[in-house]
Amino acid sequence: AFEKNTIIVVFGASGDLAKKKTFPALFGLFRQGYLDPSTKIIGYARSDLSLEDLHSRINPHLGKPNGSADDAKVAQFFKMVSYVHGPYDAPEGVAKLKSHIEDLESQMGVQKSHRLLYLALPPSVFLSVATNIKKVLYDPQGITRVVVEKPFGHDLKSARALQNDLAPLFREEELFRIDHYLGKELVKNLLVLRFGNQFLNASWNKDNLQSIQISFKEPFGTEGRGGYFDSIGIIRDVMQNHLLQILTLLTMERPASFDPESIRDEKVKVLKSMAPIDHNDILVGQYTKSEDGSKPAYLDDETVTPDSKCMTFAALSFKIQNERWEGVPIMMRAGKALNEGKVEIRLQYKAVASGVFNNIPNNELVIRVQPDPAVYMKFNAKTPGLSNATQVTDLDLTYSSRYKDFWIPEAYEVLIRDVLLGNHSNFVRDDELDVSWKLFTPLLEYLEGPDGPTPELYPYGARGPDGLIDYLTKHNYVLHSMGNSYTWPITKPE
Ligand code: BG6
Repeated sequence: AFEKNTIIVVFGASGDLAKKKTFPALFGLFRQGYLDPSTKIIGYARSDLSLEDLHSRINPHLGKPNGSADDAKVAQFFKMVSYVHGPYDAPEGVAKLKSHIEDLESQMGVQKSHRLLYLALPPSVFLSVATNIKKVLYDPQGITRVVVEKPFGHDLKSARALQNDLAPLFREEELFRIDHYLGKELVKNLLVLRFGNQFLNASWNKDNLQSIQISFKEPFGTEGRGGYFDSIGIIRDVMQNHLLQILTLLTMERPASFDPESIRDEKVKVLKSMAPIDHNDILVGQYTKSEDGSKPAYLDDETVTPDSKCMTFAALSFKIQNERWEGVPIMMRAGKALNEGKVEIRLQYKAVASGVFNNIPNNELVIRVQPDPAVYMKFNAKTPGLSNATQVTDLDLTYSSRYKDFWIPEAYEVLIRDVLLGNHSNFVRDDELDVSWKLFTPLLEYLEGPDGPTPELYPYGARGPDGLIDYLTKHNYVLHSMGNSYTWPITKPE
C-alpha cells in the first residue's frame, strides 16, 4: 500500500494555499489516524525559512477542535515535517531535495519510498518545477503521484498547451488534478442521493423538474487578491471548475459502477451534451461600495486596472440536449461581496395540478453544500390542528443535528487521502478538462472581447445585480419562498 513509507513533498510550502489548506489537511489526516506516523513531509519553497518559521506559519491554521489535547499531536506532526529551500527554475533545487529524500529514506530504513509530490505553485513556475521533478526526482521503478492545483489553463488553447507540456512528463494515472469542491461532503454525496433513492431518482428529469440552480455566494470581495482576480474573473475562479463539477454530478447518467473511470466517463458524456452557452442569456455584475460606504468597491483596489470590466458576479444558463434534460433551464450563479456566504443546489419541481389547490408552492429540493451542510425538501402539509389550510414545511436532513458525532472532513483532507489511496474518482480527468474549456472559452472570449457587456453594478453586500430576480423568473424559477409562506424554522401562523 501507499500508506507506509511515504514521502510527501509540498512545493510552494511558504505560500497561502500550503499554509491554509495543504498542511492543515495533512495534519487533520494525521490527527484522525489516516496518515501513517512513518510518513515524512517536506516543505519546499524559495524562501530561506527555518523550520520554526514554517511551523509558526502553519500552526494558526491547524484548527484543533479538541483543544489542548491536540498540542501533543501538533508536536508529533511537526516532527514529521522538514523544509528545504531552493530555486524553482533550476535543477539544483530539486537535486538538493533529492539528497534530502535519500537521507530520509535511509533513516526510514527503506530502499525506496512512495512519493507524493504536491504542486501548490503559481502557473509561472509550474512547468519548470514539473520538468525538474521528472529529470531529477522521478523514479520509474517507484510510485510517484503528482498533485496539481488550478488554474489548469486560462482558456482552451492554454489548457491544451499545458496538457501537452505535462503529458510527456507524467502519465495520466500519476496526475491528480484537484478541484477541492469534489472533496466536499455534500458534493460527494450527490451520486448516492440521486441513484440510491428511488423517489429522487424517478423524479430527476424534465417531466418533474422545472428549474435547477447552483449558487455560490461569498460575503467578502477580492480584498487583497484583486491583482490575481482581475485577469481571472468569477467565471474562471469558481464556475468553469467548482460549479461545473457540481453541475455534471447533478445531471450525469448513472455510471455502470462507482469506479473512477465509469464516473468520469459519464461526466464527460453529459458535458458533451451541453449546448453552447448563450451569450445573450447571461447576467454579469461588478460590486461597488457598500450602501453605508464602509466596504470598498472592486475598483477601489489599487492592484486592479482602473476601468476594469472584471466580473465579480455572473449568472449563466445551461441547456442539456438529451432525453432527461431537454427544456429544463439549469442556472449557475456566483458572486463575491454578496449579502451572505452560501453554496447550494436548488431543484424546483413542477406545480401540482390546479383545482383543489390554489397556487400551492412547488416542491423544492435544496442541497446546501455550505455552511451547515443540509439536504431538505420543501413540501406541503396541512397545518396541524383544526385548520385545513396547507402550509409549506420540510423534510430536513441537517447534518449538524442528525450526525452529531461524525467527523466531516475538510475537502482537502478527503482529496489527499484519495491520492494516498490512488483513487482518481474525485479528480479531474484530462478529457473532462478539455470539454469544460470548450464550453466556456467562446463565452469568455465574447465577454472579454470588444463587444462584451458592461457589468451591471451592485453594492457590496447586496443579493446581486438588480436584474437577478428577473433572470431567475425568466428561467422558470417561481419565487414562492420569498413571500411569507415559508419560514425556517416553521412558525405557527397568526
Ligand atoms: C477558490 C477560489 O478556488 O475557491 C476562491 O479561488 C474561492 O475565490 C474559493 O473563495 C471558495 O472555496 P470554499 O471552499 O471556501 O467555498
